[in-house]
Amino acid sequence: MTTRIAVLASGGGSNLQAILDYHHELGDRRHGEVVLVASNRASAPALNRARTNGTAAEVLSDPADGIGVRDLLSAYDVDLVVLAGYLKLVPREVVSRWSDRIVNVHPALLPSFGGSGMYGMRVHQAVLASGVRISGPTVHLVDEEYDRGRILAQWPVPVLRGDTPESLAARVLRAEHMLLPRVVESLALAMSRAADSSHAESGVATSDAHPAGSFHFTPHDAPAAASMDAFLGHSAISSC
Ligand code: GRF
Repeated sequence: MTTRIAVLASGGGSNLQAILDYHHELGDRRHGEVVLVASNRASAPALNRARTNGTAAEVLSDPADGIGVRDLLSAYDVDLVVLAGYLKLVPREVVSRWSDRIVNVHPALLPSFGGSGMYGMRVHQAVLASGVRISGPTVHLVDEEYDRGRILAQWPVPVLRGDTPESLAARVLRAEHMLLPRVVESLALAMSRAADSSHAESGVATSDAHPAGSFHFTPHDAPAAASMDAFLGHSAISSC
């Protein structure tokens, strides 16, 4: 079966676009399909990206209304929820319904530089102020607190001399575009397999398996370091 994905986004939706592009690249080999894009902002460019792709786009009239959001996702028969630049807290009704099946991308290496109020340029300002030499995206499970769920995958991105929050954000964002689609597809594959084997055993299709419970995203699965370097436009070591 194909894993049905909802993407929640508040802004530009470049991570959504990266997922859609990756799915196009994979073609029939993909295990996930974005069936819904929803936003708390009617003007979010992410919604237009969805429409251009022929994907359903919905505005959340009240993102804090847990039953309303849950019912919307249920109406699209969603298996997996991806937060891609979504700035609202996910209500507990949604977290409990899709337990271990909601992932978020954060533009720094959690557990540092996360939590309430840490979004947008504030994250990169805090990274630069701390003096760390490495940043990078984190993909993690979502629970009822901001940025606290189990970490599934991270990718190191160098902090360079002379970086501004904007230049660092741009470099991290390019790594997000590589990492997030691959983690989402790995989860979709795990969920498809779990549902297929459950279907075969019981004769009943179910989406109750918890793939992220045993999820591992190893460097072997990740984009090769060489291609990551090429993609970042330089070598992390020689540039520092
Ligand atoms: C990304 O940096 C993501 O990590 C953060 O918000 C930004 C969203 O960018 N949560 P986009 O809307 O996907 O372009």
